[in-house]
Amino acid sequence: MKLLFVGDVYGKTGREMVTEYLPKLKKRYLPNVTIVNAENSAHGKGITKKIYNQLLELGADILTMGNHTWDNREIFEFIDDAPKLVRPANFPEGTPGTGLRILQVNQLKVAVINLQGRVFLPALDDPFRTADQLITEAKKKTNIIFVDFHAETTSEKLALGWYLDGRVSAVVGTHTHVQTGDERIFPQGTAFLSDVGMTGPYNGIIGVERGAVTKRFLTSMPVRFESEQGSGQLGAVLITMDNQSGRAVKIERILINDDHPFFD
Ligand SMILES: [Fe+2]
Repeated sequence: MKLLFVGDVYGKTGREMVTEYLPKLKKRYLPNVTIVNAENSAHGKGITKKIYNQLLELGADILTMGNHTWDNREIFEFIDDAPKLVRPANFPEGTPGTGLRILQVNQLKVAVINLQGRVFLPALDDPFRTADQLITEAKKKTNIIFVDFHAETTSEKLALGWYLDGRVSAVVGTHTHVQTGDERIFPQGTAFLSDVGMTGPYNGIIGVERGAVTKRFLTSMPVRFESEQGSGQLGAVLITMDNQSGRAVKIERILINDDHPFFD
């Protein structure tokens, strides 16, 4: 079983990168399942119904979210009717949506869990204990379990990775928008990468137009954040797992940008 995961799709540039490169990545790597983090897909904040449908049409099987889940209010109109959307599972009880989805992929099932970190992010339920509960639930159906951990710090991500080693197929981080080079497989068979990196504007500052960000740092004044224009990047990871045990056997980072061009 091969799983392709594409990192935080940011605004129009991110969607254009998915449009251009997802078919090429699928052709080269032949993933059985494709997951895309879409929490920044609408102008950098949240998702709309149109973009939800567009990303599925472009080849995503399921979409994960993060701290911007509610930032485009349109989501409240369609989340109850969005079977391919997963939002962080440790949002407080009573919030719409779900943090665990089980996908049928031919004869196999794949569980997709989305969690959000608590360091330098809003207070939420404990992602570690939420993971314990969801893994117990998912294991009734499948050993192939993918976790998108949307979190700020490498320490919290590494801690969850080690904590879940041997219980899930992969823990992959999102949110920082900068791909890390620490991909590995832990001793009990869980693939790990601190952050898969963003799919969006390459020459901005984590997606945002850099003049505004610089002004904010220089003056501490409020500024309006717009997406940077120009060339794009795509961050992704390919994980190969044993069909029965769910253990990861290979993890491969994918980065496409002007400095790391993709050759057909
Ligand atoms: Fe985020």
